[in-house]
Parts: sequence; C-alpha cells; structure tokens
Amino acid sequence: MRIEGLPGVGAEITDVDLRQVTGDEMDAIKQAYAEHGVLFFRDQDLSEDDHIAFGERFAPININRFFAAHPDYPEIAMVAKEADQKDNIGGGWHTDHSYDVEPAMGSVLVARVLPETGGDTFFASMYRAYDTLDDATKAEIEGLNAVHSAKHIFGSQEQTYYNTTDAGGGRIGNAAAADVLEDVVHPVVITHPLSGKKALYVNPGFTVGIAGMSKEQGAELLERLFAHAMKKEHAYLFSWKPGSVAFWDNRSTWHWALNDYHGQRRIMHRITLEGCALH
Ligand code: SIN
Repeated sequence: MRIEGLPGVGAEITDVDLRQVTGDEMDAIKQAYAEHGVLFFRDQDLSEDDHIAFGERFAPININRFFAAHPDYPEIAMVAKEADQKDNIGGGWHTDHSYDVEPAMGSVLVARVLPETGGDTFFASMYRAYDTLDDATKAEIEGLNAVHSAKHIFGSQEQTYYNTTDAGGGRIGNAAAADVLEDVVHPVVITHPLSGKKALYVNPGFTVGIAGMSKEQGAELLERLFAHAMKKEHAYLFSWKPGSVAFWDNRSTWHWALNDYHGQRRIMHRITLEGCALH
C-alpha cells in the first residue's frame, strides 16, 4: 500500500483492496486519515455489503435522517441527481452533521454512476485554514463557540434548501425532524480528537452564528473565516472515476460537490460514521 499526500488537502492511497484490508494497512489508513483529513482510493470494487463493512471497521454507522436511503440498505444514504433534476446534494461548502451534539466523524462515499463530464468534489483542509490564520484572528477566535443548525437547510420553514430546490421531492425529507432539532454549539477552534491538531470548526452550510455575539457581529466574523478557509491553497479538487472511493473526516475538512453536469445522472452511495463531542 502506498500513501501520497496531495496539494491542499488529502492523500491518495494505492495498492490496497478495501475489501480485504490487513491489520497493518488499517493502522496506516487510520494514521493517514487523522493526518490528511481525506483519503482517496481508486479502482475499488465494493459491493454495498463491502462498503458497510469497511465503514464499520472505523465506527458505528449513523443512519442519515434527511437523505433518502438505499432501497435495500438503510445504512447507505443516496447522494443522487437524475438527468432531469436541477439541484444537487452537497452543492456548497459544508461539513456533514455539524448540527449534531456529537457530529459525525466522517463519511465514506462510493461512486456508482458518474456523468461523462463534471461532478467533481472539492475538499478543503480546516487544519490548514486554522494554521494560516493571522495571529490577531487566532487570538480573536480563541475560546469562542459557534452555533450550528439544520433547520435552514432541511427544515420546513420558507426558503430552506428543502423548500427551494428540487431535492425536496424524494431525495431529501423528514423536515419535521429538522424543525425540532435544537441548534448546537461547538468551539470555533477544536482540538482534533484523533490527531490532537487544531482545526477551524465552522462551515458555510450549517454554522449560523457565534454564541454571545449579535447576529451582525457573528455574521461578519463568520464571513471573514469562511473567506479565508475557502482559499484555493487549502483545497483539492477530486475527479471521480468508476471505482473511486473518498473517505473524509468531517472535523478537519469541508467538501463541496460541483453541480456542473446538468442533463446527466450521478449516483453516489454515502455511509456516515458516528463521532464524538468536540472540544
Ligand atoms: C456530500 O456528501 O456532500 C456529497 C459529496 C459528493 O456528492 O461528491
């Protein structure tokens, strides 16, 4: 097995079959995951059962409340866009499940049907985003907490992603669960539970304010942090091919699925893994 770090964020791992990872390979994958934040594998041949089994070697599976499930495997969330659909899922910078008290550790995404062109996914390193902040901003955000919510995306109120896109028609559901989900608070800077490194833990998808600040003050700070975090030098654009698998850490990375393949079908299977409280 070979591990090669990529520019911006992540590492590509080659010469491994994810259906039969040895104990030593597993240790190396875990270390690379903690260090690089997202791992990419090519030419894999994972059945749905293999996908689930690989994920369960890291953590229990978190069954998604909002995405349509695979018809035969409730553990697998469908990240789908049909040729006649307009909006995609995950089409903006975000990290999965930051609206939970114990946000998901990570996700394993397997490509099933790919468009002929487009459909790449951007990833960004929140280790790098934190490390490259200037000292004044690091001091400014030290000890602050941010508020995260699912309501404006998955809820039933007006102008949510659920209501304003065509994803609500069968791909995204359970708005009532989002409506009653209490907003949560996490530190703006976390110490990563696996690597011990500091990471910026706010994201444009689900972070809606800064605890103890007015809406305007919080929005101004978040806009500054987002603009910094999404700089090109923290990011890597992954091009999917048949057999590609990405395994990302939700605490140290963001991702953004590009919606640039209208008229074509893209079907991905996602497993999300349970995480822990963040400090
Ligand atoms: C997501 O989990 O946000 C989707 C990523 C992708 O489809 O590339």
